[in-house]
Amino acid sequence: MHTLLPLNYAYDALEPHIDARTMELHHTKHHQAYIDKLNAALEKYPEGAALSIEELLRNLKVAPEEVRTAVRNHGGGHANHSFFWTIIGPASTSGTPSVALVAALNSSFGSMEKFWEAWQSKALGLFGSGWVWLVKGGDGLSIITTANQDSSISEGKTPILALDVWEHAYYLSYQNRRADYVTAFKNVIQWDEVSRRFDLSMNSR
Ligand SMILES: [Fe+2]
Repeated sequence: MHTLLPLNYAYDALEPHIDARTMELHHTKHHQAYIDKLNAALEKYPEGAALSIEELLRNLKVAPEEVRTAVRNHGGGHANHSFFWTIIGPASTSGTPSVALVAALNSSFGSMEKFWEAWQSKALGLFGSGWVWLVKGGDGLSIITTANQDSSISEGKTPILALDVWEHAYYLSYQNRRADYVTAFKNVIQWDEVSRRFDLSMNSR
């Protein structure tokens, strides 16, 4: 059984960048619903119930066809949100990216400014609901998007940074102003955690 873990900060800790009501609904309603529906799907896939969420998403093809879409959507929803909660937090603890991560971003994108331009462009260009990711793959660092709740893990990538661009993540405060939400997101990124994820991705290959 997958369960909803508490956040390690209060729902209002990201204000004014992300409001408390959005955080509470996002965590207790949206994320919880993905977990409930994943658990329901896994009742029909006991071998999958023994796997970690990452193993499930890395091996979607081995899931029986009757539950594969549910595992993809709700397992992805669970994994993506679990990841997201760890890389956002209070602006007061946002910090800065590590020297190694900055060097890698400069190398891959030309400069931090160009990285953020590319990030913004991907976030605004994503039609409908989905996610923007900074990932490590066989070809180094890249920014990708996934539709719906698809996980970058299912594409064989290691996520380092992620942004939820479903309207449920920002609509109460930002309505149709996705660009303002993307800008606000930068204030609450927890760079120590993102830098740790980057180090892990470098050590795993
Ligand atoms: Fe979400």
